[in-house]
Amino acid sequence: MKPDFTRRLLQWNKNSNTRVMPWKGEKDPYKIWLSEIILQQTRVEQGWSYYEKFIAAFPTILHLARANEEKVFKMWEGLGYYSRCKNLIATARKIAGEYNGIFPSTYEEIEALPGIGPYTAAAISSFAFNLPHAVLDGNVQRIIARYFGNSTPIDTTAGRKLYQSLAQSLLPCDEPGIYNQAIMDFGAVICKPQNPLCSTCVQQKECEAFRQNVVSQLPVKQKA
Ligand code: ADE
Repeated sequence: MKPDFTRRLLQWNKNSNTRVMPWKGEKDPYKIWLSEIILQQTRVEQGWSYYEKFIAAFPTILHLARANEEKVFKMWEGLGYYSRCKNLIATARKIAGEYNGIFPSTYEEIEALPGIGPYTAAAISSFAFNLPHAVLDGNVQRIIARYFGNSTPIDTTAGRKLYQSLAQSLLPCDEPGIYNQAIMDFGAVICKPQNPLCSTCVQQKECEAFRQNVVSQLPVKQKA
């Protein structure tokens, strides 16, 4: 049995989600990984062309592993946070050397790669391998805090634990990849930080923040 929130989110995704991005629906873990590293600290609009440039220049992880480092850094120019680029090269070489060029397929192996934390590991393992790991980033925390009307600060250990467990409880185990992409899109398009589209939101009737008229006050952050 899926929670009502989950059923409505999947229905919205099927019927009304028109968001198009080049990595959406991608099953190749290499391409998914590349997109997720780019999107760690970069907006979708800016990351889009970099993703396409990288895929064109390095169509497989072995291309990237064997590439000239300077060429890779040159291509990264403009994205900033160069540790991401360093980790990109390190991970490609690790997978080439230790995994025979084949992207690992368990959550634990993926999370152990340089530059990959719980969020990125959940995204890659659900999109590429349909593993049941819920993504939790600022978008998902905001949606959950509002839906449950929860004012636990999101930037605390207790908050992260609480929202991770709520996020996991909403995940449909038969389609975790579709759901994870859908909740990211829902946060970007409907349950936005400012001016959320509550009037057309499929969750409106059950959304605790909407019912209590506190949408603009959630999520709560400890640090201003
Ligand atoms: N941010 C991080 N991963 C993303 C994805 N797959 N789609 C949209 N935004 C994202």
